[in-house]
Amino acid sequence: MSALKDLLTRLIQADGPMPVSTFMTLCLHHRDFGYYATRPGVGRDFITAPESSQVFGDMIGLWLAQCWSDLGRPSSLQLAELGPGRATLMADALRATRPLDGFHAALSLSLVEASPPLRSLQAEKLEAYGPGWIEDISELAPGPALILANEYLDCLPPRQFVHTGDAWCERMIGLTPSGTLAFGLSKGVPPIGEQPLPDGKTTKLEIQPGLETLTEHLRLRADAGHPFAALFIDYGPATTPPGDTLRAYYQGRQIDPLARPGDSDLTVDVDFARLAHLGRQAGLSVHGPVQQGPFLLSLGAEAHLNRLARTAPDGGEALYRATRRLIDPEEMGARFKVICLSHGLNFTPVGF
Ligand SMILES: C[S@@+](CC[C@H](N)C(=O)[O-])C[C@H]1O[C@@H](n2cnc3c(N)ncnc32)[C@H](O)[C@@H]1O
Repeated sequence: MSALKDLLTRLIQADGPMPVSTFMTLCLHHRDFGYYATRPGVGRDFITAPESSQVFGDMIGLWLAQCWSDLGRPSSLQLAELGPGRATLMADALRATRPLDGFHAALSLSLVEASPPLRSLQAEKLEAYGPGWIEDISELAPGPALILANEYLDCLPPRQFVHTGDAWCERMIGLTPSGTLAFGLSKGVPPIGEQPLPDGKTTKLEIQPGLETLTEHLRLRADAGHPFAALFIDYGPATTPPGDTLRAYYQGRQIDPLARPGDSDLTVDVDFARLAHLGRQAGLSVHGPVQQGPFLLSLGAEAHLNRLARTAPDGGEALYRATRRLIDPEEMGARFKVICLSHGLNFTPVGF
C-alpha cells in the first residue's frame, strides 16, 4: 500500500468517511505524499495547451499586450498567473511580447503555485523577469492587473452531492469491510453554495468552493478600485452543471480516482456557468465563456502558425498538428472554454 493510501485509511478509520474535497486536497497537496507537492507530472501524466504548441502562449501574450494597450499603457502593471506549472505559458507569452515598447518595463510578475518542485522550475525559467510568489491573488500589489490561469480551476477540489430520490446526500470516501477505499453517500447533506433548484433532472452536483474564494478575492480587488482582467482557460460545460466528473490521470491514461492516490493527477470539469454567476454576483463584468478554438483564431492563431511553420525544420508539420488539436472542435477547441472576469475596463477584452 502507498504511504498516502495508508494515511487515508488511518484517517478514515479514526474520523469516518471524508468528503471528496478533503480526499482530493490530500491527494494533490499533502506535504510529503501529495501529487503536486512531490511529483507533478505535467507532460508525463497529462499534457496542457502551452506544453503542446508555442502558438498558445504567443496568443496569450498578444491578449495581455492588447489589454495593456487598451488600459492606456500604464507604466506599472501587476501580471499574475495561477498554477503556472512548468512556466511554459508565461515564458512564451513574455518572449512574444518582448518587442513591445514599454510593456516589459511596466510589469511586476507574481505567481501563485502550490507545488515546491514547480516553483523551482518557474524560478529557473522566468528568472529574467524577477517573479515573486504569493499565496493567492488577495496578496497582489495594488494597481491595474492582468491575471491568467490555464488548467488551474480544474484542480480546485469539489464537493459532490447526489439526489437519491427524496434527499440530497454528500458523496464521501470511506472503506469497504476489507479496508479498500470506496465511494459512499452521507445522508441528508444539503448542497453548499447557491444552487440551481433541483428540477427533477439534476441528481448530481459538483461544487468547487474554491471558485467562491477566487471571485471573493476579485470582488475585494474591484472594491478597492483596481482595474483588472482575469482570464481563465479550462475544460467544462458552458451552461450546464458538470455533475460527477472527478477523474484521475496516470502516465497519460485515465484511471480509477481511488486507485493511485498521490501518484495520479485528479481533476474535475469546471462549472463555467457557476463561475460566471459568481462573477456577476460579485459585481464584476463577465466576458464569455467562449470556446478555446474560436478564441485563439480571433487572436490570429492561424496566421501566426503559418508564419512560424515557414521557418520550422520539418515544414511545420508537428507544429500544425499540435496547434490544430488546440483549435479543432473535435479535440480541445470546443471542450476548453475561455472566460474573463474584469473590473474597471472601458473596453471589451480582445477575443470576446
Ligand atoms: C494542470 S497544471 C497546469 C499547469 C500550467 N498552467 C499549464 O497550462 O501547463 C495545474 C497547476 O496548478 C497548480 N495548482 C493546483 N492547485 C493549486 C492550488 N490550490 N494553489 C496553487 N497552485 C495550484 C499546480 O501545481 C500546477 O502548477
